[in-house]
Amino acid sequence: MSGKVLVLPGDGIGVEVVPVALTVMSKVAKDAGIDLHFEEGLIGGVAIDRSGTPLPEATLNAARSADIVLFGGVGGPKWDHLPMSGRPERGLLRLRAELGLFANLRPALLFAPLAAASSLKPELVADLDILILRELTGGIYFGEPRGVREENGEKVGFNTDIYREHEIERIARVAFQLAERRNRRVCSVDKANVLEVTQFWRDVVTRVHQEEFAHIELSHMYVDNAGMQLVRAPKQFDVIVTGNMFGDILSDVAAMLTGSLGMLPSASLGATGHGLFEPVHGTAPDIAGKNFANPLATILSAAMAFRYTLNAGACADQIERAVGRVLADGVRTRDIAGDSRNVVGTREMGEAVLAAL
Ligand code: IPM
Ligand code: MG
Repeated sequence: MSGKVLVLPGDGIGVEVVPVALTVMSKVAKDAGIDLHFEEGLIGGVAIDRSGTPLPEATLNAARSADIVLFGGVGGPKWDHLPMSGRPERGLLRLRAELGLFANLRPALLFAPLAAASSLKPELVADLDILILRELTGGIYFGEPRGVREENGEKVGFNTDIYREHEIERIARVAFQLAERRNRRVCSVDKANVLEVTQFWRDVVTRVHQEEFAHIELSHMYVDNAGMQLVRAPKQFDVIVTGNMFGDILSDVAAMLTGSLGMLPSASLGATGHGLFEPVHGTAPDIAGKNFANPLATILSAAMAFRYTLNAGACADQIERAVGRVLADGVRTRDIAGDSRNVVGTREMGEAVLAAL
């Protein structure tokens, strides 16, 4: 088996966590006889600095021919003054759209030794294993018209929340298929009491369910309630499927349940299994360059690449077990330190995972 990996560290702590995840990825691939070819590219702020655009054509072309994109993060205060359309984040958004990565899987899984690092009581999060499936290439993130215009001498800002039927159908199918391999429960989150587009979302999800997946349990929840339920009783969920913006918000909430944003991986998949794998956390400019960042979310994202793109579930399991072992041994980065006496840096955490493989 072989695969092409495009490595895009991006900005901030991306530059620190991605190389660490790469060492884990190459070792696991090598041991399993998987021939991975790595290529590095520019994206985000660093790409703006060097080539004037957050997503250079060379990066986009390399991404199109790659099986796996391993991504760090983009953005930082240095580029915040730029107009919206030229910001580092645009590079990532465009990459998601150009590659057709409509299905964003954000698992929130609690590693038992981290129960104390969660902001919730340990009994509420023990054995937590939920999966947020976020629609990633539609909705208000991409809807037109968008912008700021002048109306009667006053400025007006606007965006458009829009979903086409096929976009809802395909993400609903992914949700039900994922649930089939888990606990067979899907909760679709919307704001159908206020927004027409999300009442439409609810109707389409309901139809796909009736026509194709009646054996899966489907429920619906308003997003405000879902936010509340996630911090009240998160274990009631199995798969949560929702639109782009609600998914952005709820996945940060879910991440915190597991102890730290530094723990949450993600996979963004297209129709053909190719994908972009990135930690849910951002570039953390406040700790960038200090070897403080937690590389586990990126390492776990690499595990997802093995599972979902390379169909090498055993390699993914191996990485996840190694992470579990390192945590059980009490090795911690600062974000999940608790009262551990063994607080290490980014690189040292990577070495610990390598040793535990
Ligand atoms: C995420 C991030 C991005 C998003 C930003 C950086 C564009 O918050 O992946 O959750 O909003 O999708
Ligand atoms: Mg986000």
